[in-house]
Amino acid sequence: MYSEKVMDHFQHPRNVGEIENASGVGTVGNAKCGDIMRMFLDIDDKTHIIKECKFKTFGCGAAVATSSMATEMVKGKTIEEAMQITNKAVMEALDGLPPVKVHCSLLAEEAIHAALWDYAEKHGIKIEGLSKPKSDISEGEEEEEY
Ligand code: FES
Repeated sequence: MYSEKVMDHFQHPRNVGEIENASGVGTVGNAKCGDIMRMFLDIDDKTHIIKECKFKTFGCGAAVATSSMATEMVKGKTIEEAMQITNKAVMEALDGLPPVKVHCSLLAEEAIHAALWDYAEKHGIKIEGLSKPKSDISEGEEEEEY
């Protein structure tokens, strides 16, 4: 039921880990399934190019695969370009997901947005089209969950 690409990214996820002193960190969660995703971005302050992107996902296989693909797609892009990367684009890059797993890809998109939101707040800038993700759970973060 999963595409080969989904299986590949699930079994060999790219960019797993953390970035020390990341420019932006976003943590999002899905209340229904309880899955959590944290995204780390290293952004060049002058060019706004995302130099590095890493993630940690405490969640299902589809969440791991979509976050892995999302980090690959975001790397090397500018903030503005990264804003164009929707969960639909991530799903297409993975050759699709079963309908019940669409919400997992949404978590990946929201994690990127949450990390960009964090970056914007720290730098006092406004990113066109970005608002605080609803599933952002970064306030009162509990480190022991990881
Ligand atoms: Fe919740 Fe996949 S089942 S993120």
